[in-house]
Amino acid sequence: MSTCEATIQQLFPPAHDRISWPEKSGITKIPYSIFSDRGVYEEEQEKIFKGPVWNYLCLEEEIPAPGDIRTTWVGETPVIVSRDHDGKLHAMVNRCAHKGALVCLKESDNRKSLTCIYHAWNYDLSGQLKSIAFEKGVVGKGGMPPNFDVSQHRLQPLRITSLYGLIFGTFSEATKPIEEYLGQKMSAFMKRNLDRPLKVLGKHSQVIHNNWKLYAENVRDSYHATLLHTFYTAFKVNRLDMDGGIILADDKWHHISYSKRNTHKLDEEYSSADVHSAKYKSSLAAPELIASWEEFEDGITHSIQTVFPNLVIQYTLNSLAIRYFVPRGVDKTELFWLFLGDKSDTDEQEHMRVMQSNLTGAAGLVALEDGCINSFVQRGTKTSPNESSFVEMGGTVAESNESSRATETSVRGFWYGYRNIMGFN
Ligand code: FES
Ligand SMILES: [Fe+2]
Repeated sequence: MSTCEATIQQLFPPAHDRISWPEKSGITKIPYSIFSDRGVYEEEQEKIFKGPVWNYLCLEEEIPAPGDIRTTWVGETPVIVSRDHDGKLHAMVNRCAHKGALVCLKESDNRKSLTCIYHAWNYDLSGQLKSIAFEKGVVGKGGMPPNFDVSQHRLQPLRITSLYGLIFGTFSEATKPIEEYLGQKMSAFMKRNLDRPLKVLGKHSQVIHNNWKLYAENVRDSYHATLLHTFYTAFKVNRLDMDGGIILADDKWHHISYSKRNTHKLDEEYSSADVHSAKYKSSLAAPELIASWEEFEDGITHSIQTVFPNLVIQYTLNSLAIRYFVPRGVDKTELFWLFLGDKSDTDEQEHMRVMQSNLTGAAGLVALEDGCINSFVQRGTKTSPNESSFVEMGGTVAESNESSRATETSVRGFWYGYRNIMGFN
C-alpha cells in the first residue's frame, strides 16, 4: 500500500474498521448505524452492486424485438439493456463516453442506434461508438485530432446472463455463472415459477423512505406477515399456522419462504396470541378479490424468493410478480413491481391474477404496510447508531427450516452474506 493510500485509509477507514458489530462474526445483532451511515452506503455501491453479484436488470419479455431498449439501474448506476438487430442482448452503463451524459432518457424505447443529445456521439446497440458529429471539423476547421479512433470508445459494458426470462448483469469478472451463484435449490424454484412464456400484466413503482437493506430484511422476515399483514391473516391467505418452511441457499445469500394454504389448521397457541386479526370473524363482501386456482401440484400457495442483492419473486395465490429495489440514497429506496401472467392463461385466469394484484403494491391491501413499517424502523433507529437490533426468533444460526416460519433465519442469512461481501468477518 502506498503512503498516499495509507493516509486515505486513515482519514476514511472502510466500514469494517469503523462500524463496530456487537458480536464478532455474529448475525443476530445488527448495528443500527448500518442503515444510516453515508460511508457504508457508498462502499456498498462498489463492494456489493459492482461486486461479485448478479443484479436483476429486466425481463427478456420487455425487450422482445430488435432495437428494443430498457433503462434501469445497478445500485445507483444507470444502465441500458438492449436487443441488437441480430437479437443479441447487451447491457451497458447509461453514460456517454464523451462527457458522461445519460444517453437514453426513456424507460423503454425502440431505436436503430443510440445517440447522445449533448454532442451527438452515436453508438450501436451493443454500445460501440460508431460516429461523432464534426469529427473532421466544420468548413475544414476544428475537429478531432487525426489519431482519433471511434473503435477505441464505447459505453462501458456489463456482463449479462439470462435465466427463465430474467436478464441479470454484473460488473465483476469474479461473479460465478448464474446457476452456481443461485445454487440448485434456488434455481429449481425459479424454474417452478418462471419457466414458461411470461406476459407482463402491469407494473408500478413506489418510493419507500428507508435504507435498501431494511427492505432486503423485510422480504426475508417470514414471521411478520402473520402479525403486520392483517388482511393475510384475517382472510387466511398466508399465516404461520399453515404448513410451510424456509429454504436457504447454500451460501445463505438467497432464500425461499413458502406456505400451503390448504393445510391451514387453527393452532391454539396462535389463536391465543395477541394477534387480533386472527380472531376476525368477518368475511369478504367481494370474495372474487382473492379467487384462485391450483396452479401447481406441490400445494404451495404462497412463496417469496429472494436473490441477493435486489430481486424478489412473489407467488401469492396466483399473483406472480417480480419486485426489485433500487437504492436512491442512504434512507430512500425505489421499489419496482412487475405483475406477470402466463401467455397460455385463459381470460378467467388472467382476470384472477389481475384481481389478486390488489393484494400487493403501494396501494395494495397488504404490501403498503411493508413500505410503512420500514420507514418506521429507519426513523426509530437513525439517532441510535451505537444500538443494535435483536434477531433471534428461531435460533441464532442461518439454516433452512422446513418445519416452521416462526423464525428469522433468512434475515440472519442476509447478514451472513452481507458481512462476507463487505469484509466484516
Ligand atoms: S456528452 Fe454525450 S456527446 Fe457529449
Ligand atoms: Fe411484509
